[in-house]
Amino acid sequence: MRATATAHRDFTIANIDNRLYGAFLEHLGRAVYSGIYEPDHPTADTNGMRRDVIDLVRALDIPVVRYPGGNFVSAYNWEDGIGPKAARPTRLDLAWHTSESNEVGIHEFADWCDSVGTKMMLAVNLGSRGLDAARNFVEYVNHPGGTYWSDLRKKNGRADPWNVKLWALGNEMDGPWQVGHKSAAEYGHLANETAKAVRAFDKSLELVVCGSSHADMVTYPDWEATVLDETYENIDYISLHMYFRNEEKNTANFLALSEKLDRYIGTVAGTINYVKAKKRSKKDVYISFDEWNVWYHSNNADRKVLGGDDGWPLAPPLLEDIYNFEDVLMVGCALNTFIRRSDVVKIAAIAQLVNVIAPIMTEKGGKAWKQTIYYPFYFASRYGRGTALNLAVKSPGYDCAHGDNVSYVDVSAVHNDADGTVAVFAVNRHASETIAFDLSLFGFATPRVLEHKVMTHPNLEAVNTAQRPDEVAPRDGSGAQVDGNSVTLALPPHSYQMIRLKV
Ligand code: AHR
Repeated sequence: MRATATAHRDFTIANIDNRLYGAFLEHLGRAVYSGIYEPDHPTADTNGMRRDVIDLVRALDIPVVRYPGGNFVSAYNWEDGIGPKAARPTRLDLAWHTSESNEVGIHEFADWCDSVGTKMMLAVNLGSRGLDAARNFVEYVNHPGGTYWSDLRKKNGRADPWNVKLWALGNEMDGPWQVGHKSAAEYGHLANETAKAVRAFDKSLELVVCGSSHADMVTYPDWEATVLDETYENIDYISLHMYFRNEEKNTANFLALSEKLDRYIGTVAGTINYVKAKKRSKKDVYISFDEWNVWYHSNNADRKVLGGDDGWPLAPPLLEDIYNFEDVLMVGCALNTFIRRSDVVKIAAIAQLVNVIAPIMTEKGGKAWKQTIYYPFYFASRYGRGTALNLAVKSPGYDCAHGDNVSYVDVSAVHNDADGTVAVFAVNRHASETIAFDLSLFGFATPRVLEHKVMTHPNLEAVNTAQRPDEVAPRDGSGAQVDGNSVTLALPPHSYQMIRLKV
């Protein structure tokens, strides 16, 4: 089997916003407690943060981390997480049927962001609370001083404002499961008024309104049309979420979920344009795809806690999906989709970062390791910065539940003008055929292979564990042939690869 892709330096999709490689961290399960924060851990720093986890996160070079939720934020009082730790209240977390000690709040999270070299994206509670709590939080975080909230921040140990630019106006407000769920019109009105209030404080804030929780919501895509109609002139991004599942164990269908992702993005991009036209507006609104990942492996294990059978535990193991090799391929396809849609998707966040549906796992008191999906995210984040190239791809395809003629080869390419490289990310969705893949590059100097990494495994269900952390890991690729302006690679069945070319 053969496939080809043709690229031209000037035939581009968009300059990728680095925040396409963002992540999400929620007060949920062991994401925070025994994930990033464990004061008794042998590697803990003076803030109680695990250094082993900091190192693994740092390597991913994540530009922004969304916090503190998620469903959690919709019943969260941000004030519970400030001031002396001993005086902070323990609260019931209604979203996940657990208890929240509030040992970690905005100060601790901000310091951790500095340690891992990332920026904060903060969500405000528009579920159980509203405009007032939101504007106070923004003032606490961003005002230099001389007011009640900014001086309280100073008293709590942080003299300078954090100047957080990116704010999420609630979370998944379309979901009946959300504390304080609202209709699109109700939420749109509240989000617009909140946007106006925080913009009165600082016009330059970047604001994200809630879009749909997934593309099968009954309110999708009317929700987007109504919310954007209410908020268009006062916000900058609409948030989308999507999780990929393979309970039926049908790999061909599973790997084609990126087609559904692509249609979802296309539909919401169209809805943005519809509202823009309706309002005769010059302003652009973009997509913040701030929750995405594979999520289904842990569903059975989670039923007891989510059903309330275990009472209200503190930081129980929840949503601890153990990712397999098949998930590497799906995550690779999702990242390729975001790169190919980087003209409208400016921000994205893998959900989540540590322990909870995450690329990084930890043992309490023990090891931290890379899950299988760490690697495609690592390669995209490190090398997928620059300009997305508009590839003309010819590949054989297959028909399945999520589309017809789904390409066996899923590929994206990014030109980094600053270091004169092109990075190519390719997944072969075929179960049994190696595909000879030819990439022709026009408008560049003769390519030279700088780095070539391949991920294959004879068992789609292979996983990494604390004992065998490298069961699924990339190895050096070989056999890439350069002939003039064309590069030929063999893509083994069910494989992921990344090749970086000096151009
Ligand atoms: O990431 C887990 C949960 O998924 C988030 O809390 C919520 O926003 C979504 O439903």
